[in-house]
Amino acid sequence: MTLLEPLDLGPIRVPNRVLVPAMVTRLSGEDGFVNDSIIDRYVRYATGHVGLIVVEATAIHQSKSGPLLRLSDDAFTPGHAELVRRVRDAGPSKIVPQIIHFLKVARSGWRQTIDSLSPGEIDAIVTDFADAAARAQDAGYDGVEIHSAHAYTLSSFLSARNPRRDGYDGRTLEGRLALFGRVYHAVRARVGSGFGVGARFLAEECIKDGYTVEDAKRIALRMAMLGVDYISLSVGGKFEDAVHREGQPLYPYTGYSGDRCMPGDAYPPLPHAHLAAAIKQYVNQHGYTVPIASVGKISDPGDAERLVATGQADLIGMARQLLADPDWVKKVAQNRSDEVLRCIYCNVCKQLDENFKEVHCFLWPKGARQAPADQPGARPPDWAAPDVTVEQRPGEVRLRWRRAGGDVAGYDVWRSEAGAPFVVAEAVKGTQFVDRKVLGGLTYRYFVRAYDAVGRQSAPTDTLTVAVPAPVAFDRQPVATADDLGRGE
Ligand SMILES: Cc1cc2nc3c(=O)[nH]c(=O)nc-3n(C[C@H](O)[C@H](O)[C@H](O)COP(=O)(O)O)c2cc1C
Repeated sequence: MTLLEPLDLGPIRVPNRVLVPAMVTRLSGEDGFVNDSIIDRYVRYATGHVGLIVVEATAIHQSKSGPLLRLSDDAFTPGHAELVRRVRDAGPSKIVPQIIHFLKVARSGWRQTIDSLSPGEIDAIVTDFADAAARAQDAGYDGVEIHSAHAYTLSSFLSARNPRRDGYDGRTLEGRLALFGRVYHAVRARVGSGFGVGARFLAEECIKDGYTVEDAKRIALRMAMLGVDYISLSVGGKFEDAVHREGQPLYPYTGYSGDRCMPGDAYPPLPHAHLAAAIKQYVNQHGYTVPIASVGKISDPGDAERLVATGQADLIGMARQLLADPDWVKKVAQNRSDEVLRCIYCNVCKQLDENFKEVHCFLWPKGARQAPADQPGARPPDWAAPDVTVEQRPGEVRLRWRRAGGDVAGYDVWRSEAGAPFVVAEAVKGTQFVDRKVLGGLTYRYFVRAYDAVGRQSAPTDTLTVAVPAPVAFDRQPVATADDLGRGE
């Protein structure tokens, strides 16, 4: 099995195993209608040949919120139909909306919780999901994804902290699964077996007393038994540990579970891949083959390929990486991986979302509302004699260089610590980089490459070697060098 081979997600045949998970764009107005900017955003993924496009969380009910797409009324269907038509015209991608129900939040920090829902209100949620799915089908989508992750209603029922004591009893796994089961059946009854029904839920809640991968295995198994066509995993993103900002409604990505949901540059690559692998193994051992998507700081083509080839995932979800460069699939397929504009996980996109501002990528050219068009065959930036200088201060290595001319959008600073392979330490727009993560007593090597708006890299500068002095006396010396240990390149 390889990453770029087609795969059947029930009735949906995706052309490859790369999916862009739902990512709120804040490009719609508060009215919730599809507009041209929304269409441009999703068409961009289709021209980049992303296998499955999951359209951002789309409300199934009329409850007030910031800018958010909606499928809560028939009036929204024509806009979605136009979005689907334009995406199909642009490339081979399949497309589903993520349909969401959420409860009320107030600027005071108050939020409605699931124990307040009456049986009638729960029935209405089930009906709203089915109605929204039927509208998605009318609009021509390939399926829907039932949002059961993060801080939202279905996730709160699945949660180990579900406080209900009725037929949705939070003390039993079956009670926690009951509402998802009802929603699934209602949706399937409306759309039939020829329309895809996927689900997104948490592999771990990442909150105190939240569930871990052990419950997630069984939740996934139940979803497989019910008949979902794919499962996309996420982690965290809960209200329980969110930090309230004065005068702002709670945003569920402000606490530790929010960090885990959109892990920033401090996290290593693939921090959650082991969870998807464990869940997939468990589901497969029970005789089910529902495709499972692994998500979380995956951007390297080799990593993505390996996860699929070794059976750790069926699908690879990349949110921020595909926002940065929607042409990832096309470039990888055309052996142009070195032209991929690599996400640096700076989380500027997350901050924009949090502040209800249009979601852009920091790596795009200033002012761009969408990722720039791919330009295969165009020349990479020419950055001759860049003259990088180094200055050391206590705990810091500072690199400076002369600005490159032409179409340069920024600079990748590559770094190797103590003989380990080079990795991109930072992408910067200016002409300096300060490394505050150096450890005294180790030697660092750096080079810089300029990149243009579509990710093409200049030749690297000369490599600079910086021995960072020990700030204190060391009583021990290493017993082996990096080369002896096989860490060198
Ligand atoms: C700006 C932004 C908006 C997001 N909106 C959604 C959303 O609407 N629904 C959802 O399930 N996840 C949402 N996510 C989470 C992503 O789908 C994804 O799980 C997360 O970013 C980790 O994947 P990554 O490391 O590939 O970015 C959002 C993430 C970001 C950065």
